[in-house]
Amino acid sequence: MVTPRQLFQKHIARTSAMPLMLDIVSANGVWLTDRDGKRYIDLIAGIGVSNCGHGHPAVVRAVEAQSRTYMHLMVYGEFVETPQVMLAQALAGHLPAHLDHCYFVNSGAEAVEGALKAAKRHTGRHEIVAFNRAYHGSTHGALSLMGDAAYRNAFRPLLPGVRLIDFNDRTALEQITNRTACVVHEVIQAEAGVILPEDEFLPSLAARCRETGALLISDEIQTGGGRTGTLFAFEDFDMTPDILLLAKSLGGGMPLGAFISSGEIMQSLAHHPPLGHMTTFGGHPVSCAAALAALQVITARDLRGEMAHKEALFRRQLNHPAIQSVDGRGLMLAVAFESGDICRKVIRRCVDLGVVTDWFLFADHKLRIAPPLVITDEEITEGCQRINKAIEQAVA
Ligand SMILES: Cc1ncc(COP(=O)(O)O)c(C=O)c1O
Repeated sequence: MVTPRQLFQKHIARTSAMPLMLDIVSANGVWLTDRDGKRYIDLIAGIGVSNCGHGHPAVVRAVEAQSRTYMHLMVYGEFVETPQVMLAQALAGHLPAHLDHCYFVNSGAEAVEGALKAAKRHTGRHEIVAFNRAYHGSTHGALSLMGDAAYRNAFRPLLPGVRLIDFNDRTALEQITNRTACVVHEVIQAEAGVILPEDEFLPSLAARCRETGALLISDEIQTGGGRTGTLFAFEDFDMTPDILLLAKSLGGGMPLGAFISSGEIMQSLAHHPPLGHMTTFGGHPVSCAAALAALQVITARDLRGEMAHKEALFRRQLNHPAIQSVDGRGLMLAVAFESGDICRKVIRRCVDLGVVTDWFLFADHKLRIAPPLVITDEEITEGCQRINKAIEQAVA
């Protein structure tokens, strides 16, 4: 009999050089079970997606109920769809007053694209500033902002007028000028290996944007949703975006993204021409219903206390001497080794020992720890023991 693994090899187009090839048949909380019945602790949550844990009953109930009520009805923004408006209202309730208009899309990259267009129209400018070692998605616009020349060069020509500067370099902020339409940044640089902003960096960035009239676009596609101890990471860094980007965990496991801004900025996509941004499936009612349920699950928790406690548990128990540092905040952590080679071996041994993790796009010597936020203390201990053992075997 042909196995799903063989069909994967034969029919699934993929770009990964070394796919993990796990054949998962069920997922619950932080646990994944493969076709042979082997169980894995999921320490990456589908890359920052399953914050509520896999199969959270409230999210599953919302998906079931909404799929019975209606699924796709009409392209985005024509009908009043209750799940969309309820979600938009709930998000606005957790955000500063000016971030009260949501445009829902299907993914993070699409949120980036929509935000870039809104910034261009609102400012009448086209130059964009972004950061080295940033990842914002794989579509052409998002790729133009990607902080790695090798990826960009392979797909030129890309968007003109993009300037890439170093994260945490305050002197580079001078390159934001009155010709800059927008600055796109991550609050915490994820794929660079979880790099936190230094104390004054984000307030200085926001101040420079205000001074020059450039819009500040904060990509919280990976940080948003409670992972760093606040619902949105910017809350801890003395700044507010002009446009906020969400995706990944937003949909509670369903595909959903959003760019969120003021009515005035969003209005720039609605005239000359009208329909300045369109999507068929963006804000799918089932995704929005799942997202609302997930938001309620996450905001009912003591995010700050819980994420600090769980971070401390990981830091205390990841204690193998081959670990050079543990960077990050809350449940967005990066465990650094001496080389990418060691890290790859550790990841392989982790999978053998029943732990799913991976590396970072621009920091292949770091191992990713980004589990569902509902992970228990016992599961953290179990995960750390397995990782320490995997390191021991990898460096032996
Ligand atoms: C910070 C950040 N922005 C944008 C994206 C792109 O999101 P998507 O894969 O949904 O297009 C990602 C995906 O990893 C991301 O980590």
